[in-house]
Amino acid sequence: MSVDFQSWVAAHQARFEEVLRGLLPRADISPQRLHEAMRYAVLDGGKRVRPLLAFAAGELVGAQAARVDVAAAAVELIHAYSLVHDDMPCMDDDVLRRGKPTCHVQYDEATALLVGDSLQTLAFQLLAEHRLNDDAARQLEMVRLLAAATGSRGMVGGQAIDLASVGKALTLPELEFMHIHKTGALIRAAVLLGAQCGSDTGRGSVSAEQLAKLDHFGKLIGLAFQVVDDVLDCEADTATLGKTAGKDADNDKPTYVSLLGIQGARDMAQRLHREALEILAGFGEAAQRLRELADFIVLRKF
Ligand code: IPE
Ligand code: IPE
Ligand code: MG
Ligand code: MG
Ligand code: MG
Repeated sequence: MSVDFQSWVAAHQARFEEVLRGLLPRADISPQRLHEAMRYAVLDGGKRVRPLLAFAAGELVGAQAARVDVAAAAVELIHAYSLVHDDMPCMDDDVLRRGKPTCHVQYDEATALLVGDSLQTLAFQLLAEHRLNDDAARQLEMVRLLAAATGSRGMVGGQAIDLASVGKALTLPELEFMHIHKTGALIRAAVLLGAQCGSDTGRGSVSAEQLAKLDHFGKLIGLAFQVVDDVLDCEADTATLGKTAGKDADNDKPTYVSLLGIQGARDMAQRLHREALEILAGFGEAAQRLRELADFIVLRKF
């Protein structure tokens, strides 16, 4: 990571933390316990990779930062909800997340369920409440995009396949389909939503052709993200990850590592990384942050 990129990441992470603090319901407002648990699940943790992708895509097209903040928050709330539910006993049954007890362990299962529900609806409330684009039809398209990426034909569908695949040996195309949905869809949406904030009549503008390229980039890097997650699950340790290492093997999940081995999975991530960078070639300097984020996603150790 270059020093310049490192400070860009740190500055955006710190600013975004404050954005999230302001957008989440206060913990002293009823129902206090639910609001406290929502804040527990979202604040003080996580790499914020999806928001960073949205910021980088927003910067690429010259979008207003305040608008991208809201779009990025919506994506991060959906992501946090997915983690709370993913960790529950009925899914991956994990006790540690972002270095803290998982939401259902810290609170209880019913609260964790409701935290997920309310983070999801808050995400869409934000997209509807704030002005994200001068063109109302464009903004409606952003709402549709996040809903589609999240639902049964997107992230939730991927999670359903993940759960149905326990103990099974998937083929490579089946595994790819699962990963593209459970993780890729939301990462792809993060890139697109950031860019869509710039597709208005105001400061920024983005062409359909540019959006298609960014979409392709998001698809590749989203898949790479989960391939690397699979590798880290079996290579990294619990303290570094902030979540229990070795869970995929324990839960008998098909992963890129179980199918291709560690080196095969690493090679696959490298290939996706290369392809993702090739797509950005035409954007020149303006896409530097997206390139650096692609590097981070593939080279990260946590
Ligand atoms: C973990 O996502 C779950 C997956 C989709 C692989 P992250 O690795 O982005 O988790 P945080 O947000 O940094 O905790
Ligand atoms: C999680 O995948 C994907 C979603 C939460 C949508 P994993 O189950 O591999 O994520 P971790 O490893 O628990 O973070
Ligand atoms: Mg899971
Ligand atoms: Mg999990
Ligand atoms: Mg994992």
